[in-house]
Amino acid sequence: MPLRSTEHGWGVLVRAFHWLIAVLIVAQGVIGLSMVQMGLTPAKVRVFALHKSIGITILALVLLRIAWRLTETRPADPPAMPRWQRRAAHALHLALYVLILAIPLSGWWFNSTANAPLVWFGWFDIPGLTGGYDPAWKPRALLLHQTLFWTLVALLVGHVGAALWHHFRERDDVLRRMTIGPRKQNGEAR
Ligand code: HEM
Ligand code: HEM
Repeated sequence: MPLRSTEHGWGVLVRAFHWLIAVLIVAQGVIGLSMVQMGLTPAKVRVFALHKSIGITILALVLLRIAWRLTETRPADPPAMPRWQRRAAHALHLALYVLILAIPLSGWWFNSTANAPLVWFGWFDIPGLTGGYDPAWKPRALLLHQTLFWTLVALLVGHVGAALWHHFRERDDVLRRMTIGPRKQNGEAR
C-alpha cells in the first residue's frame, strides 16, 4: 500500500486521515447532542470537557490532513463520470473541508465567548479565541456551531449516498480506493 496517492488510488495516509476524522466527527456529533440534554451534574462537566478536547484534536488532525493533501496528486475520476458529476463531487469535497475546519473553530469561539475553561484532556490550557465573556456574540457563536453541524449532516447524506451509488450502481473503484484500495488490473500493482 503506497503512502502517497497515485493516479489510481488514495495513499494510506489520506485514507487513515479520512476514516479517523470521520469516526471522530460522528462520535463528536453524538456526544454534542447528548451532552446538551444532560442535567447539571459533575458528569455533564466532564462530558463537555471531553467534547472540547476531542473537538480540538479534530481541528489539529484536519489541519494536518489539509497540509498533507496539498502536497498530493488526486487520483483520476472514473472515465465514465460526466463533467457535472466531477464538478459536483469536487465542490462537495471542498465544502466538507470548510465545514470540518469551521465546526471546531466555531465551538472554540463559542467556548471563548462563554469564558469557559478549555483544557486539552486535562493536560494543558488552550487560550480563548476572543477576549473573554461576550454576551452579545455568545448566542451567535452557538447558532453558528449548530448550523454548521447540521449543514455537515445534510452534505454527508449526499456524500455517503454518492459513495454507495458509485460502489453498488456504477460498480467502480471510488469507494474501494478510499477503503481497501483499488482492484488490480492485468496483474498490475496499483
Ligand atoms: C468537529 C468538531 C465538533 C462537532 C462535530 C461538534 C458538534 C456539536 C454538537 C452537535 C453540539 C450540540 C449542539 C446543540 O444541539 O445545542 C455541540 C455543542 C457544543 N460544542 Fe461542539 N462540536 C465540535 C467541536 C467543538 C469544539 C472544538 C468546542 C470547543 C472547544 C466545542 C464546544 C461545544 C460546546 C461548549 C457545546 C455546548 C453548547 C451549549 O452549551 O449548548 N465543540 N457541538
Ligand atoms: C464525517 C464523515 C466524513 C467526512 C467529513 C468526509 C469527508 C471527505 C472529504 C473531505 C473527501 C475528499 C477527499 C479529498 O479530495 O482530499 C472525502 C472523500 C471520500 N469519502 Fe468521505 N467523508 C466522511 C464519511 C464518509 C463515508 C461514511 C464514506 C463511505 C460510505 C465516505 C466515502 C468517501 C469516498 C469514497 C471518498 C473518495 C472520493 C473520490 O475518490 O473522489 N466518506 N470524504
